[in-house]
Amino acid sequence: MNEASCVAAVTIRPAVSEDADGIARTFLESAEYHAGLDRERYRIPALETISARYREGRQHPPDAGGQGITLVAELRGEIVGFVDTRLDRSPDPMHREILYCHVVEIAVSSRHQHQGIGGQLLQAAEDWGRGLGAEFASLEYLAVNTRASEFYQRRMGYRVASIVAIKRL
Ligand SMILES: CC(C)(COP(=O)(O)OP(=O)(O)OC[C@H]1O[C@@H](n2cnc3c(N)ncnc32)[C@H](O)[C@@H]1OP(=O)(O)O)[C@@H](O)C(=O)NCCC(=O)NCCS
Repeated sequence: MNEASCVAAVTIRPAVSEDADGIARTFLESAEYHAGLDRERYRIPALETISARYREGRQHPPDAGGQGITLVAELRGEIVGFVDTRLDRSPDPMHREILYCHVVEIAVSSRHQHQGIGGQLLQAAEDWGRGLGAEFASLEYLAVNTRASEFYQRRMGYRVASIVAIKRL
């Protein structure tokens, strides 16, 4: 199957609890990738811990009140990617009252990357937020994650709006 037909075969839909194992496998691949980029701050959690988290819907804060969603990419019955998104507002009174569609996690399994699936997932997350009144989408990525930076900025139209600085104490 060529890449174009592979993309066409992907279904993007809201996650159900039965997707938890598939999401957790992709989550762990992302965790391994991030631990390789920044071992000081990232770790690889147990598969069952992450699976239970998604099975029980604990990936979104309890006070989110339905303002969070997990979407999955399904290819021939297999979960090959997911995105966790929620609505968010800045608590800073200096900031304008803006509703953000905040992308908390996004990952595509390594075997299925570079086929447009991440783009479809992010687009669907943005559409979800836009439909609920969000004016901006926001997300964070590691400064050393150049692939993610290229994906967000060159392919998906994001620009850097703020920088998180850290210092070991
Ligand atoms: C970042 C990530 C989600 C992107 O997912 P993806 O499915 O690979 O994304 P896409 O395929 O939509 O786009 C990525 C690249 O594939 C290219 N592409 C898109 N559709 C394509 C197609 N049909 N054929 C060939 N290439 C294609 C894009 O141009 C893009 O290339 P570029 O980055 O050089 O511009 C994925 O790489 C990932 O899970 N990475 C590990 C975890 C991670 O870093 N998550 C983000 C943390 S903030």
